[in-house]
Amino acid sequence: MFKDLFSLHGRVALVTGGSRGIGKMIAGGFLAYGAARVYITARKAAACQATADELTEQYPGECIALPIDISTMAGIDMLAGEIKRREPKLDILVNNAGAAWGADFDEFPEAGWDKVMNLNVKSPFFLTKALAGPLRAAASADRPGKVINIASIDGIFVNPLETYSYAASKAGLIHLTRRMAVKLIKDHIVVTAIAPGPFASDMNRAARDEADHVAKRVPSGRIGTDEDMAGAAIYLASRAGDYVVGATLPVDGGVVYANPGIQGDGWA
Ligand SMILES: NC(=O)c1ccc[n+]([C@@H]2O[C@H](COP(=O)([O-])OP(=O)(O)OC[C@H]3O[C@@H](n4cnc5c(N)ncnc54)[C@H](OP(=O)(O)O)[C@@H]3O)[C@@H](O)[C@H]2O)c1
Repeated sequence: MFKDLFSLHGRVALVTGGSRGIGKMIAGGFLAYGAARVYITARKAAACQATADELTEQYPGECIALPIDISTMAGIDMLAGEIKRREPKLDILVNNAGAAWGADFDEFPEAGWDKVMNLNVKSPFFLTKALAGPLRAAASADRPGKVINIASIDGIFVNPLETYSYAASKAGLIHLTRRMAVKLIKDHIVVTAIAPGPFASDMNRAARDEADHVAKRVPSGRIGTDEDMAGAAIYLASRAGDYVVGATLPVDGGVVYANPGIQGDGWA
C-alpha cells in the first residue's frame, strides 16, 4: 500500500524556468522518481537545451527543452500550444519561473513592478488556465493532477530587502494558490505552493556566493540543497501529497516557523 507513495512513474510534467536553480532541482527530482517526460522552459535556448540534455542523460525518462519567454500572453499561448501538440494529458505543472527587483522605495520604477507581477503572478494564472485541458484530461479521483506554484517565504514574512513587487507577488501567488485550489479540486486537480527559503541560484546570489553568511540566519544552520527542494516537490506531485490542497509548504530550514523573530531577550 505504501510502497509507491512517492513514485512519479510514467507522469508527464512541465516545469517553467527549469533550465537552472530551483526549477532544475525539481525537474531532476521528478525524473529520478520515474517521470516519463519533463518539459522545461526558459528564455535562453542554449542553456535550456543543455539542461534537458544533461537530465536526459542522467535518468531513464526524457527532459525536453521548450525555450519560450512566458512573461507575455503570446508566450504563454505558444508554450501551451506546444504542450498540447505533443501531449494529450499533463499530470503536473510547476509554475516556477520568477523574477525579482530591488530598489529604494523612493526610486522604485514601474518597470520593476510590472516585470515581477507579470511573471510571478499573471503568468502562473494564465498558464494554468491555458493548460487546463490537458491537466483535466490527466486527472482523476484516484490520481489527481497537480499544479505546484513556487512562491517564497518573502510572501509570508517581511524580508527587510526593498523588493516591494516581489514580496507582493509572492503573497499574491500564495493566495491565488488557495483560490485556484477551490476551483480546480472539483476537477481532481490539486493546487499547492512551495515557499522556498534561501537556495543557491542566479536569483539568490547571496545564498550562492555567501552561503556561510546566509546560513547564520537560518535556524537549520545551512542553505537549502537540491534534495530539500526536490523532496518537497516530489512529495506534493506524487500520491503522498494528494490530500494536501491549497496549502503552501515553507521549505526554508525554519526561517518562517522556527524563528523567534526578535533576537536576544525578546519583548520583555
Ligand atoms: N533561490 C531562492 O533562494 C528562492 C527563494 C524563494 C523563492 N524562489 C523562487 O523560485 C523560483 C526560481 O528561482 P531561482 O532562484 O531558481 O531563479 P533563477 O536561478 O534565476 O532561475 C529562474 C529560471 O526561470 C527562467 N525564466 C526567467 N524569466 C523567464 C521568462 N520570462 N520566461 C521563461 N523562463 C524564465 C530562467 O531562465 P532564463 O533566464 O533563460 O529565462 C531560469 O530557468 C522563482 O519563482 C523564485 O522567486 C527562489
